[in-house]
Amino acid sequence: MFEQVSTLEAQALQELQSAPLDLAWLQDFDVRVLGKKGLLTLLLRETGKLPDAERPAFGARVNAAKAAVLERLNALRAQAEGQALAARLAGERLDVTLPGRPMVSGSIHPLSRMQAEIAEVFQRLGFNVESGPELEDEFHNFDALNVPADHPARDGMDSYYLTVPGKAGAERKVLRTHTSPVQIRVLKRRKPPIRMIAPGRVFRRDAVDATHGAQFHQLEGLAVDDFGKVRFSDLKGTLESFTRLMFGRRLGVRLRPSHFGFTEPSVEVDVQCFQCQGSGCGLCKQSGYIEIGGAGMVHPNVYAACGLDPEAYSGFAFGMGVERIAMLKWGINDIRLFTENDPRFLAQF
Ligand code: PHE
Repeated sequence: MFEQVSTLEAQALQELQSAPLDLAWLQDFDVRVLGKKGLLTLLLRETGKLPDAERPAFGARVNAAKAAVLERLNALRAQAEGQALAARLAGERLDVTLPGRPMVSGSIHPLSRMQAEIAEVFQRLGFNVESGPELEDEFHNFDALNVPADHPARDGMDSYYLTVPGKAGAERKVLRTHTSPVQIRVLKRRKPPIRMIAPGRVFRRDAVDATHGAQFHQLEGLAVDDFGKVRFSDLKGTLESFTRLMFGRRLGVRLRPSHFGFTEPSVEVDVQCFQCQGSGCGLCKQSGYIEIGGAGMVHPNVYAACGLDPEAYSGFAFGMGVERIAMLKWGINDIRLFTENDPRFLAQF
């Protein structure tokens, strides 16, 4: 039996000699040879077969064998752990001498900047800033603005309609097609005198090209006071002050007769082309001017729709394209640049 111990011990040590440096494998070996039911441990159960006198010596011999194997095993474990640690450190190595990566700081979006600049100009002229929802109802976006139910702008071709859950079941809404509904909200809420602007996003089902997008920004203006106090000449003067403060004296303004349901008379507002200064080029399609928006005197039906006496008030309204003005002021020739978010473009503002 003593021989059996020596054989098992020798076999175990031999196996360890070609053992892989693998902690899991070493753990299996530990259980198989030294564990509670391990090969060497099981030998102790045989002790009873020996004469009493030999039993202590046998026990000591087995324990010595176990200790010898364990010592070798632990040495291998230490080696395996060292190797695993070295591998991990190699994988995580940092070269602290490499140059750092620069942090790129963001900038204000040109449209935000333009909106703020326009708002500042109008605030200097005594206008305050108002806002309204992007998801409107047809009353505010069309009806109250005297846009008849059969007007082409109302059919699904130009507007985005949505059905949303409301207080009284499903409600039909429209993504506002202009900022003019804010006029209605303010006229219903406040008594004239009113001098307000409302910048914001609007939506139209337009084909996207260099000067059109399915969503863009407008800036609405409204000035209303007692009848006779606000006249067409005030509208003209306000628009001229605005362009002078915005573009300096070099670009002139031109008003062309037009039509809007909510103004009468109505005009289209043009500013001289920044590129050719009025002589005609590809950008302004040889006209020398670029349209920046519409304007006019508030239509009596608008006052009536807001519960105001049309005979008691007069005023003007205008709406301009923020992208248009930014393109004019900064010489940007494609409206899509505003939404492509190319940092090389954005960083210039
Ligand atoms: N709402 C008009 C548009 O989107 C612009 C406008 C505003 C015209 C106010 C007149 C008065 O084209």
